[in-house]
Amino acid sequence: MIGIFDSGSGGLTVLKAIRTRMPSADILYFGDIKNAPYGSKSTGELSTLTVRAIELLQKRGAESIVSACNSVSASLAVSLFDALSLAPTQLIEMVGTTVSSFKNTPARLLLVATPATIQSEIYQNGFRMVGKEVTALAIPDLASAIEFGAPEAEIEGLIRNALAGVPLAECDVLILACTHYPLVADLFKKMTGPLPLFDPALAVADRAKRQLWPREVGDGTTRFIISTDSEPFRDRVAALGLNGEPLIEVLD
Ligand code: DGL
Repeated sequence: MIGIFDSGSGGLTVLKAIRTRMPSADILYFGDIKNAPYGSKSTGELSTLTVRAIELLQKRGAESIVSACNSVSASLAVSLFDALSLAPTQLIEMVGTTVSSFKNTPARLLLVATPATIQSEIYQNGFRMVGKEVTALAIPDLASAIEFGAPEAEIEGLIRNALAGVPLAECDVLILACTHYPLVADLFKKMTGPLPLFDPALAVADRAKRQLWPREVGDGTTRFIISTDSEPFRDRVAALGLNGEPLIEVLD
C-alpha cells in the first residue's frame, strides 16, 4: 500500500496523478488538517509532524511513502530513514523529483512556495547542485486560504501581491512548489498569462510509477484519514470522482 501525506488537500493533486498512472495500487492518504498550514511552521515542528504522519501511515499498513508536501522535504533527512525503518527506495518526496526535471535545461526558473519551503533553501540548494539558479518566492497565507476555502477574491489578492513587481517576462516557467497551488492554477494563470506553469505532482507520480511499480499492485482501493473534519476537504475528495463512496476516517 502507498501512503501519501500532506497538511491537507494539497496532496490530493499528487494522489490524483498517481491514481491515474497506477490504477490498481492501494492508496492511504493522510491530511493533517488539524496542524495546517505546515508552511508557517519551524523545521523542528515540521520534523515532528513528518515523523508522526509517516508512523501513522506505516501503522496502517503503508510500505511505500509519498511525501506530497514540499514544506516537509527539509525534514526528510537521511537520518530519518533509519529511525523509521524506511529504505530510501520506499520514500518519494517533491523536491528531488522537481529539481531533476530541470537538470540540463536552459529554462529560467521562477518558483513559488510556502515560507517554510523558501526559508529552508532546499530548492535553491537543490538547483545549485545541478548548476541552476532559481528565483524563489514565498507566498505567505496562500496554502491556508486554499485549504480552508477562502473566497476566490482573497486568494487572487494573495497571488497578485506576491507576484507584483516580479519580472515575469524574464522567466520561462513558474514552478508551483506547494501542492496546494495547482488547486488554484487558473488564478495563477490570470496573472501570469502565457508563462507555462509546472505542477511537480505529475513528475512525482511518474517517479512513483517507475519506483513502486509493480511492487505496489493491489485492488485499487483509496482511503483517507484526516486529523480533523473539513468540508472543503470532503468536497475535494468528492471531486476526484473515485469509484464508490469515499472512505474518510476522522481521527479526533
Ligand atoms: N501542501 C504543502 C506544501 O506543498 C503544505 C502547505 C501548507 O500547509 O502550508 O508545501
